Amino acid sequence: MDDIFLELPRHLAIIMDGNGRWAKSRGRNRLYGHIRGAQVAKQTIENCARLGIKNLTLFAFSTENWFRPSEEVSFLMGLMARKLKIEAPSLIKNNIRFHCIGNLRNLPSAVREKALETIKLTAHCTGMNLTCALSYGGRQEITAAARLIAEEVAKGSLKPENIDEALFAGALDSSFMPDPDLIIRTSGEHRLSNFFLWQAAYSEIHIVDKSWPEFSKVELYQALETFSKRERRFGKTSEQIKNSTLRSP
Ligand code: IPE
Ligand code: IPE
Ligand code: MG
Repeated sequence: MDDIFLELPRHLAIIMDGNGRWAKSRGRNRLYGHIRGAQVAKQTIENCARLGIKNLTLFAFSTENWFRPSEEVSFLMGLMARKLKIEAPSLIKNNIRFHCIGNLRNLPSAVREKALETIKLTAHCTGMNLTCALSYGGRQEITAAARLIAEEVAKGSLKPENIDEALFAGALDSSFMPDPDLIIRTSGEHRLSNFFLWQAAYSEIHIVDKSWPEFSKVELYQALETFSKRERRFGKTSEQIKNSTLRSP
C-alpha cells in the first residue's frame, strides 16, 4: 500500500469530526474521543508528509465550537497547548512548517503563545505546510477581509473598481496557500460547518463514514485514490478537459 502512485492534491484539508460520538458509543465521555482524535491527527500529519502532500489543513476548532460546554472547551484548549508543546520537535524532524488560521486573539494565552512559538520554530522547514484552523470560521474570515478592503477604500489607497477575486483572496487568512483540491470530512456528515467557504468553490469533497478517531492510513489512501480518479471540470465540458490534458506536455 505504501508504494501506490497517486496524483496528489496540492492542498488537502480535513474536517476532523466525530470524536465525541465515537467515545460515547464506547461508553466513554466525549473528552476521551478528543484524546484519541489528537493521536489520529499526529499519525495523519506524518502520513501526509511521507506521501509528499505539500499543504495539509486540519480544522481543529471552529468559531461555533466556543459555544460548547465550558468543560469541553477548556479541555480542548489544554490538549491543544500540550500537543503544540510536545510535537514541535517532531514537526521540525519531519521538515513540517506550522501555520495557523483563525481568530488567535480569542484563544487562551497559553495556546496562542504555543501556537506562535511553533510557527516561529518551524519557519525554516521546507517540506509540508501544516495549517491548523483554530477558532476559525469561514464567514468571520470573509467578513474580516471585507473590512480590511473597506478600510483601504476609505483611506483612498484602493479604488472599488480594483477589487477583484485575487485581491479579495489576498485579504483572507488563507492567502499563503492554494485553495484545497480535496476536503475530507469524517463521521458521515455532508456539510462544511463554516469551513473554507470561499476556498472550497472547486474543492472535491470526500465523506468518510467512520469517525475521526477511526481514520487511518487506509481511509486516507482511499480518499486520495478516489480523488485521483475524479474529473475536475471547473465549469468546462468533459471533452474540453480531455483535449487540454492530451495537449499538455
Ligand atoms: C470533532 O469531533 C472535534 C471538534 C469539533 C473539536 P466532535 O467533538 O465534533 O465530535 P462529535 O461530532 O460531536 O461526535
Ligand atoms: C466542525 O465540526 C468543526 C471541526 C471539525 C473543528 P462540528 O462538530 O463543530 O460541526 P457540526 O456542529 O456538526 O456542524
Ligand atoms: Mg462534530
